[in-house]
Amino acid sequence: MKISQKNARVSKCFYSFGAFQMNANKMSQMNYSVLLVDNQAESLQQSTRELKERGLNIIGCLNYEKACELLKIDGSIHVVLSEWSLPVREGSDQKIEGLEIFRNFMALRHEVTLFLYTHITDSQMLTSGGIINGYFFKGEDVYDDIVRKIKAEMRDKRSAPFYERLVEYAKKAKDSWHTPGHASGNSVKNSPYVRSFYDFFGENLFTADVSVSVPELDSLLHPNGVIKEAQEQAARAFNARYTFFSTNGTSTSNKVLIQTLLKPGDTILLDRNCHKSVHYGMIISGAEPIYLMPSVNNKYGIFGPIPKKRIIEAMDDALARKKKLKAIILTNCTYDGLIYDIEDIVKEAHSRGIKVIVDEAWFGYANFHREFYPSAMAAGADYATQSTHKTMSAFSQASMIHVNDSDFEDIQDFFMENFNMHASTSPQYPMIASLDIARKQMVMEGYTLLQRVLELSDLLRKSINSLKKFRVLDLPDMISPEIKQDNIRLDHTKITIDISQSGYSSKEIEHILLTKHNIQIEKSTFNTITILLTIGATYSRINRLYLALENIEKRTGNRRANGSEKILKKFNLEVSPIRFRPRFSFYADTEELPLEDTEERISARMVTPYPPGIPLLVPGQIVTQKIISTLQMYRNYGIEIHGLESGLIKVLTKQEEERLNNRGFNIDD
Ligand SMILES: Cc1ncc(COP(=O)(O)O)c(C=O)c1O
Repeated sequence: MKISQKNARVSKCFYSFGAFQMNANKMSQMNYSVLLVDNQAESLQQSTRELKERGLNIIGCLNYEKACELLKIDGSIHVVLSEWSLPVREGSDQKIEGLEIFRNFMALRHEVTLFLYTHITDSQMLTSGGIINGYFFKGEDVYDDIVRKIKAEMRDKRSAPFYERLVEYAKKAKDSWHTPGHASGNSVKNSPYVRSFYDFFGENLFTADVSVSVPELDSLLHPNGVIKEAQEQAARAFNARYTFFSTNGTSTSNKVLIQTLLKPGDTILLDRNCHKSVHYGMIISGAEPIYLMPSVNNKYGIFGPIPKKRIIEAMDDALARKKKLKAIILTNCTYDGLIYDIEDIVKEAHSRGIKVIVDEAWFGYANFHREFYPSAMAAGADYATQSTHKTMSAFSQASMIHVNDSDFEDIQDFFMENFNMHASTSPQYPMIASLDIARKQMVMEGYTLLQRVLELSDLLRKSINSLKKFRVLDLPDMISPEIKQDNIRLDHTKITIDISQSGYSSKEIEHILLTKHNIQIEKSTFNTITILLTIGATYSRINRLYLALENIEKRTGNRRANGSEKILKKFNLEVSPIRFRPRFSFYADTEELPLEDTEERISARMVTPYPPGIPLLVPGQIVTQKIISTLQMYRNYGIEIHGLESGLIKVLTKQEEERLNNRGFNIDD
C-alpha cells in the first residue's frame, strides 16, 4: 500500500480520534456531566432545566438503550440519575426494571456514581444492591439536594489530598532544618559544578522532596492522615477494601504480601514464569513453592497463562497430600497481554479455602474500561499488586497493593510490620503524590484515555497489517492448544508483531528501530517484537512506528532471516524437581562450580537468561544435564545469563545437602 493511500485511510480514522480529542477538551472545561434517565419526557425536561440552572451539566435521555450508548461514548459522564423502571428503547413497550438497570450501567462503567431518582416512595419496593449511592424522590423539590450530593461526590473523586497538601506545603517555602540534605535545592543551586542538576529537574522537585519530619504530610509507614485519606480514595477507585501505596515497586509489594500470608513450611502455588520478586518471596517467607508450568506457544516463543485444568489439579493434589496450601499467585495479564478468566479461578481457589494474589503489574488500568473487566479486585481476588508506574501516570517505582481479603483485619498489624520491613524510612514524597494523581486521573478520565488507546491500537494494527512483512498477532495466534478452552482474552493495548517474514532477526529489528528511528520497543522473542500502548500513546507515535516498519520493509529486498535466532525456539521450561525449600538452599553453605560440573547438584541461586527472563534454576532446584545444555546454548549464543556471569554456578556443598537431608528438609514431590 502506498503511503499516500495509506494516509488517506488513516486520516479518515483520525477524524474519529479527533472527535474524541475534542470531547476531551470539552471535558476539561466542564469537568463532568450527569446523565439523567427518565421515563417521562415532561419530568425529564423539568429536571434538566432545574439542574442546569443550578450549574450541572445534564445529558438527558428517555430510555435504557440510549443511556447505555451515552455511557459508552461519553467519558465525561460521571454520575447517573435514573428512574427505577425504563422503556428498553424508544417507542417500545418493553420495560427494564430496578437493579438490573443499575447493574448493567455498572457493567459498562465501574467508576460512574449511580443515584436513584424516582417517583416510587415505598422503600420496600427498592434495594440499593450495594451499588446505588443514593435516593431522590421526584415528587419533592429536591434539586438543591441533588446538586449538593453530586458536587460532594465529585469533589471527593476529583481531589488528590496528598498531592494537594504537598503542593501547599512546598509553597510555604519553610526553612528546612531536616533531611534531605539538599535543603529544598539550596545545596545545589549555587554550586558551580552541579547547578545543572537543579536546573534540569527544576525548583518544584526540590521543594517537594521533603522528609518524614513533616507531620502534616503523614507517614507512609503508619498512615493516619493525608496519606491514609489518599489510600482510601484509591481503594474506592480500584474496587478494593484497602489500598496501600508502595514506593519500592511491585517487586516489593509482592514480597510484602508473600511474607504476610505465608509462614515457613506453608505452601503456595505459583507460575514458574512469575516475576523474580515472587521467587525472592519464597526465600524470604520460607514457604514451599509448587511451581505451575505456564502454557507455551512454541511458534512465537510466548509464555501464556497456566492452563485452568492444571491449576485446579494442582490445588487438589496439594490438598490431598496435606500440604498447608495457603495461597496461589498468578500474573494477570501476562507480559504479552493474555488475560485469565480470573473470576472463575478465584471461585475455584476460594471453594478450597485458598487465598488468591494477582500480580497485576501490567494491568493496573483494568478497572477503568469494560474491555478489561474484571480487575482482580472486581473478580473477588484477595490481593492485587499493581505497578502504577508501568501503565499509568505515576513515577517509576510507584506501586499499589489492593486488599479484598475478608480476613485481612486479623492480619493487618502483621501486614504493616512486613510493609515496614521492606519500605524505606525515607520514602519519596513526589512519588506518593504521583500515586494520588494517577488514581485521580484514572477516575476522572481513565475511561476516555483507555477508549482512545484502544482506538489507536486498532488503527496501528490495521496499518501494520497492511504491510507485507509484518503482522500483528491476534489471540488465536498467541495461545497454545492447552488453553483454548480457558476463556483467555487479549489486552489490545499490548501489540505483538510477527517479524519472521522481514528477513531480519528480532534483535536486528530492535536495533534498527532504536538507532535509526529512535523507537524503543518493550521486548522481543526470536520472531516477534512487542510494544505497549499506554495512556500516553499518541497518534504521532503510532504513525512513527508504522512508518519506521514500512521503511524497514522497503529496505529488506530479498533478505532472508539468518535463522540463528531460531535457536531460542528450543527454549523449554521443562524444569527439574525442587529438592529443598528455596530459603534453606539460599542460606546453605555453597561452592561455585563450572556449569559443566553441576549435574545432579542443587542450585543455591536463580539462574536467569535474558531474554526471556525466566529463571531456568531457582534456589533448591536440581541441576540436570538438560538444563546445563540449555544454559550452554544460551551462553554460546551470547545471551546474558544472570547467575552465570563468571561461568560458575553456586550450588550447595555436598555436606550441606547431607545435613538438610538428615534433618528431613527435603521436599517430597
Ligand atoms: C509480572 C511482574 N511483576 C512484578 C514486576 C515488578 O514491578 P516493579 O518494576 O514495579 O517493581 C514486574 C516488572 O517487570 C513484572 O513484570
